[in-house]
Amino acid sequence: MTWLGARQAPTVLAGEADKPALLGGTPVHKGDWPKWPEWRESWEPQIIEVLRSGKWSSSSGGGKAADFEAAYANLLGAKRCVATASGTTALLTALHVMGVDAGDEVIVSPYTFIASYNVILMHKALPVFADTDPTTMTIDPASIESRITDRTRAIVPVHIYGMACDMDPINAIAKKHNLSVVEDACQAWLAEYKGKKCGTLGDLSCFSFQNSKHIPAGEGGAITGNSAELLDRCWSFHNCGHSFGTFEGRGAFSRGSNYRMTHYQAALLLQQIDKLVTETARRRENASRLTAGLNEIPGIEPVRLPEGSRPVWHVYAFRYDASQFNGLARNQFIRALRAEGVPCSSGYHEQYYDGLLDEAINSRGFKRLFSAERLKAYRDSFQELKGNKQVCDTNVGIFNTMLLAEPGDIDNIIEAIWRIHAHSAALKA
Ligand SMILES: Cc1ncc(COP(=O)(O)O)c(C=O)c1O
Repeated sequence: MTWLGARQAPTVLAGEADKPALLGGTPVHKGDWPKWPEWRESWEPQIIEVLRSGKWSSSSGGGKAADFEAAYANLLGAKRCVATASGTTALLTALHVMGVDAGDEVIVSPYTFIASYNVILMHKALPVFADTDPTTMTIDPASIESRITDRTRAIVPVHIYGMACDMDPINAIAKKHNLSVVEDACQAWLAEYKGKKCGTLGDLSCFSFQNSKHIPAGEGGAITGNSAELLDRCWSFHNCGHSFGTFEGRGAFSRGSNYRMTHYQAALLLQQIDKLVTETARRRENASRLTAGLNEIPGIEPVRLPEGSRPVWHVYAFRYDASQFNGLARNQFIRALRAEGVPCSSGYHEQYYDGLLDEAINSRGFKRLFSAERLKAYRDSFQELKGNKQVCDTNVGIFNTMLLAEPGDIDNIIEAIWRIHAHSAALKA
């Protein structure tokens, strides 16, 4: 498989002196990469303030959680925000509020963290996978419409690795078929599409602040959107179904759960907003440097971004074409790159074959809710995800904290890949 025109390695890199680390040479990159998460002593007084207040839960509103909701909505340009216990609980809430119910179908990106599948299954609805566009690595809008049935209720585009999905055609399809759009923006804090932030592009949007995220609180999440009415319903659902704002429900309680954020989490998050903004700019700068370098290497294909979008690079991903590396398999390439002092991984695999979906569709509940024919056709349809398979088979990802390093460290990544390219035949042997 070849995507690229012939490109020339700098000949200076092809000599003996430049031996790959796996073959006994010296690693290109020496030393550590930035560690995550980071914290500052200056954050401690606000955490202690929460401790001493005795008001740790956000069940009655106000406090740090409410301050964070206002600050995060403002940061995104969204009308409102509801802070939650996690990204998963944000998604569970948003799907409930958009009316996803037992026996429904929800169209979702297959190339994502497993929670994007699970939240749909938790509603006893079927996660129906649209294909991934191998060039953008996000949902291919052209593959959505053929998957819509009379049970489809919502579309969940995932802005994976902080790269915005191509939202205009997705929203147009949703409008045409009267479907809701819930953005899974759990990896896309401050990512942009055509001048707007992810988190303001669908009916409701969900974020994660888990430990590895660009703005972490250990666990934590948020739902954002522009409809006060929908956000009132989210608040109610995440607070055990207590009526809230315009949402009065029926009687004292509607259906709901306890998916609230604590004030401790909010105190941590509030103090990281400026840091998120600064570090996003730095990640973008270093990612541009990396893309410029990688674009020159035969067999390395950086992502094609949807027009007018600005990613935030939770993972910096590219596709690897082994045929341009003398057939050096992707796992061998990853091993060689790690040996050069550049941590990297192969990203998500074809998780729909892992057993989770088989377990779900063979359960008593799903068998009651869907016909045997529908469940068989559903299972068979995984084979149609050719674009997603291509991404799963060829992706290589570099974790975002490495984009917080110095420009010289970024050049090391490029140099290490050139080195592997120059010695790929020997590395394969
Ligand atoms: C794309 C995506 N969706 C959903 C989630 C779930 O978020 P959380 O781990 O905060 O529950 C994550 C978190 O890793 C994610 O990356």
